[in-house]
Amino acid sequence: MSKVEFEHLFSPIKVGPMLVPNRICETTNTINSSQIPGEIDENYIAHHAAKARGGTGWIGSETWLLHFPFPRAAPDEVGLSVGFAAHQSAYQNPAFLEGMKKFIGEVHDAGSVAIVQLTHLSAVWAPSEIPAVGAQDHCPHELGDEEIEAILDIYGDAAAAAKACGADAIEVHCAHETLGYTFLSPVTNQRTDKWGGGPQERIRFVVEALKKVRDAPGKDVALGIRMSGKEFRKGGFDNIESREMTYYIGETGLLDFVSVDVGHCWGSPSYVPSSYFSHGEFRECGKAVRADLGDNIKVLFAGRVNDPVIAEEMLQEGYCDLIGMVRAGIADAEFANKAREGRLGEIRRCISCTRCIDEASEPMTFPYKPRCSINPVIGNEVRWKNEFKPAEKSKRVVVVGGGLAGCEAARIATERGHKVTLFEQGKRLGGQLNLAARASGRDDFEDQIYFEENEMERLGVDVKLRTDADVATIKALSPEAVVIATGAVPRVPHDVVGLDLPHVVQGWDAIRGTAEVGQRVAIVSQEDYYETPTIAEYLAQKGKDVEVFTKSTQLGFEIARYSVAMVLAHMENVGVKVTPNLVLNEIKSDGLEFVSSFGGHKYRKEAFDSVVLIYGQVPVHGLYDQLVADGDIEEVYIAGSAWIPRFMAEATEHGASIGLTI
Ligand SMILES: Cc1cc2nc3c(=O)[nH]c(=O)nc-3n(C[C@H](O)[C@H](O)[C@H](O)COP(=O)(O)O)c2cc1C
Repeated sequence: MSKVEFEHLFSPIKVGPMLVPNRICETTNTINSSQIPGEIDENYIAHHAAKARGGTGWIGSETWLLHFPFPRAAPDEVGLSVGFAAHQSAYQNPAFLEGMKKFIGEVHDAGSVAIVQLTHLSAVWAPSEIPAVGAQDHCPHELGDEEIEAILDIYGDAAAAAKACGADAIEVHCAHETLGYTFLSPVTNQRTDKWGGGPQERIRFVVEALKKVRDAPGKDVALGIRMSGKEFRKGGFDNIESREMTYYIGETGLLDFVSVDVGHCWGSPSYVPSSYFSHGEFRECGKAVRADLGDNIKVLFAGRVNDPVIAEEMLQEGYCDLIGMVRAGIADAEFANKAREGRLGEIRRCISCTRCIDEASEPMTFPYKPRCSINPVIGNEVRWKNEFKPAEKSKRVVVVGGGLAGCEAARIATERGHKVTLFEQGKRLGGQLNLAARASGRDDFEDQIYFEENEMERLGVDVKLRTDADVATIKALSPEAVVIATGAVPRVPHDVVGLDLPHVVQGWDAIRGTAEVGQRVAIVSQEDYYETPTIAEYLAQKGKDVEVFTKSTQLGFEIARYSVAMVLAHMENVGVKVTPNLVLNEIKSDGLEFVSSFGGHKYRKEAFDSVVLIYGQVPVHGLYDQLVADGDIEEVYIAGSAWIPRFMAEATEHGASIGLTI
């Protein structure tokens, strides 16, 4: 591949008094990397500073959540006080400030700039007694004038602390579920006093907060806001009104930058758009604001830009001055350096599965820590710092299975100096990713297969495709360590009658194209994550009439609230019908007999040509059992779904962890 020139991406830019070394921005992402609540620990520093060292010029790290003067003796409902005094913000904790100074020092040493985002959430207190976001139906406390003044002072106080820590810029968060947003939105701001009204009145709170930040004692910093370019909420502001408000805020002369994204936290899109959206889909929102504001206020756009080439194009075509690339840096902290050095093929591109934000908002597995489906370092930065080093002795290693777990075990073991042979029975690496990527809303998943294929070639792993491995094949190579990553197969329910009827097929065979599926399809699911929506989407896009029957209260029951709305909206868009709360008892040639999940009532559903079953997976571990019983090879590992079928992140982490251990 000829070297791509990144004329714009790597050019510095002045934002107010701040010189940003390039256009690549880690906009703020509260991924909860610190393991010590209320403090900045070594995990936090390792996570975010790695991005600075990896070439990201603008480091937004994690938001500073600000406190509120709760009524006397009221419990702190938003939990800001975890780890330090009740009803205080983290910035009032000396240990937090100490950590922040150290962190900003590392960011500066790497040549990047540090941005502090100030956030007042709006779940508990708000301009009006209207829930801040669709995800909550609790009525917040309506702020009185004195309370608003107290909150504005807190912005000033926090800004002084941020300046003292060495921040280069301060961003007042006015998007998503924040107090700034609820003042700006015509849905949530119903006030008739000076804080409410039309767009010019609703900006008052934000402008006053900006003044407090500007006037706070300390160094001269760049000042900006995070602003939603479009709410995507019933009755919310559209792009025209967002531009109008941004323009009026800009007119005050207080702004050096505006960071634009779209959506709020429970919606479609959410502000962390998934792979159902195209790359930088809402980029026009950045371009419009940029045209309105003129040259002095720089515009940052963020929203599913995962590729330096796309980022370069967007800069060149004037969509923005700076590009948010948060998840690009979670998937690969080194992506910017790799792009600059022309090593594009080595970049692990974010697949926009949204596991990172799901984990941060509603942790799914223990221990609670940041997770990425494809980058095993995330959440384990300190371990990697200590353990990712050349192996003391180079060993002969055999890996069986080329899914995520097997590939990661092979990749890391090879990087550490072992000689690895990988057997894969299919024609391609990637395991289940090959199935997921067949649905068009998930086709980015194929990027991870390309990554693994490229890495195997670059590192010199001996990959043997279309090859079954048994104990004899493995022993013929005299390995000193063996990794069994043979994955999983679909689970067949043991308590359903009629499974042998000819119109019953497994979901994997339906998406693989190895089973015939008729026009009217009933998908019966006992799987609560992405497998069901992905197979449903695939069949709907083939023109089938698809209805999903799920045992749970909704399709995608395990998908966190920041992402699930995108899944449900996408299902509607592709024409998939969903019926919740049903457990399948019996399949007959002319219908399906269900019982309701909770009430025990019986239901019959008819008129389907095919029944597609999705009941989760069972591990394939026979080869591991045989090797252990055989006992000749000392180091035998089992990895990923062959051990227990979980999610991508767990398979990735498990495989890589074995690669670190061998
Ligand atoms: C785990 C996670 C936490 C986030 N937390 C915040 C936050 O605290 N404040 C904020 O303004 N945006 C937050 N975001 C949104 C990001 O700044 C960014 O706008 C979003 O991820 C889309 O950009 P991307 O496609 O480059 O990832 C978060 C995103 C992620 C993935």
